[in-house]
Amino acid sequence: MSSKAWGGRFSEQPEAWVDEFNASIHFDKTLIQYDVQGSIAHATMLAKQGIISDTDCDQIIEGLNAILADYEQGKLALDVSLEDIHLNIEHELIKRIGDAGGRLHTGRSRNDQVATDMHLYTKAEVSQLIDLIISFQQTIVKIAESHIDTIMPGYTHLQRAQPISFAHHILTYYWMLERDKSRFQDSLKRIDISPLGAAALSGTTYPIDRHETQSLLDFSTIYENSMDAVSDRDYIVETLHNISLTMVHLSRFAEEIIFWSSAEANFITLSDAFSTGSSIMPQKKNPDMAELIRGKVGRTTGNLMSMLMTLKGLPLAYNKDMQEDKEGLFDAVHTLKGSLRIFEGMIDTMTVNVDHLQETVYNDFSNATELADYLVNKNVPFRNAHEIVGKIVLWAIQHNVYLLDVPLEQYQSAHESIEPDIYNYLKPENCISRRISHGSTGQEAVKKQLEIIKQNLN
Ligand code: ARG
Repeated sequence: MSSKAWGGRFSEQPEAWVDEFNASIHFDKTLIQYDVQGSIAHATMLAKQGIISDTDCDQIIEGLNAILADYEQGKLALDVSLEDIHLNIEHELIKRIGDAGGRLHTGRSRNDQVATDMHLYTKAEVSQLIDLIISFQQTIVKIAESHIDTIMPGYTHLQRAQPISFAHHILTYYWMLERDKSRFQDSLKRIDISPLGAAALSGTTYPIDRHETQSLLDFSTIYENSMDAVSDRDYIVETLHNISLTMVHLSRFAEEIIFWSSAEANFITLSDAFSTGSSIMPQKKNPDMAELIRGKVGRTTGNLMSMLMTLKGLPLAYNKDMQEDKEGLFDAVHTLKGSLRIFEGMIDTMTVNVDHLQETVYNDFSNATELADYLVNKNVPFRNAHEIVGKIVLWAIQHNVYLLDVPLEQYQSAHESIEPDIYNYLKPENCISRRISHGSTGQEAVKKQLEIIKQNLN
């Protein structure tokens, strides 16, 4: 008898290199715990429905648990010619317990089996990703709380724009991650569905109870259409998208970390534990972790594109193309988990160079909008004020000073309403604290923002 589960109809065996190409065992071994869990639920249901005997069921469960334990201890040899994790386990089970093992596949197919494994895997991993995001958000909030009064230049077009607080800047990433978290949470309703019992594509003639396996596997609901159950990979595309977008957010943050830690900016200092050196330039301390995270967004986005292209034009129901859904998802999950953990450690241990940030914002024109607002308060129309300030800035550039050093006579010759209080008005700290609008960078507004965050953050 052929070792292949489908050997009966074949008179020739594939050569080893064909088996190698066909196999998924190299990567779908990742699913072993879910495969065993799914099979135990299936066997339990079969026995409850009287489709197999209780004795067979007990033997199956015991056998499966023993196989899993052996695998975890490195004692289970996996065979490429057995193609995938499902057939490897089944083959091993039959070897160990004989006919009872051969009854496990009653009323199911590898098509609903692999779909069940992937739903269980994705659900578990998405829940872990949500926890990692929450932990990362908590670290961001902790840093923000100690930097409400730390001032820095805010940028647009990577040109100094207006003074902001460090807390306000970093909390932007809290909100990006909040949307990522909510996308992952929302996706669970499309992941948390049981395909088990769809069998190959059309359902089965055995009196199975799909709701029983649903509840044994703790799924919220079941697919209503057996063909949809085995053909749906939307939840994988969606998870890859959610991972990719989170990685895009991390890469934006990484880019800032890289810039901030450069000698040009010197806004932060990364801890040695999250930096690396150069093999040739002894003075160097490189932000490799941030660069890797910025770079890894290429892989996750690639995996998303690859899954979309694999699904495009696939007819119903199962097609072997679908085996290609695994490596990209496993890789993307692994990449995001690693990136979240590393990023959290990196920012938790960085030093914010508070004095240098303050000095920086005193040495630029980022308070120019304030001067215009000052004139508006003296009843000058904003457009005129903008023009007047532009001229003052030009004068200052030509005389190599910033706005706090422009002499009062100069101000008054630009507009008679400017008084000595202008110097206090233009101090970056005051520019920030005057911002009272909802969601702004002013200290009071940031404190309110933190209150709202803390109500949400579980
Ligand atoms: N290894 C396959 C996969 O990952 C399992 C399902 C195979 N089903 C089949 N009818 N050949 O998709």
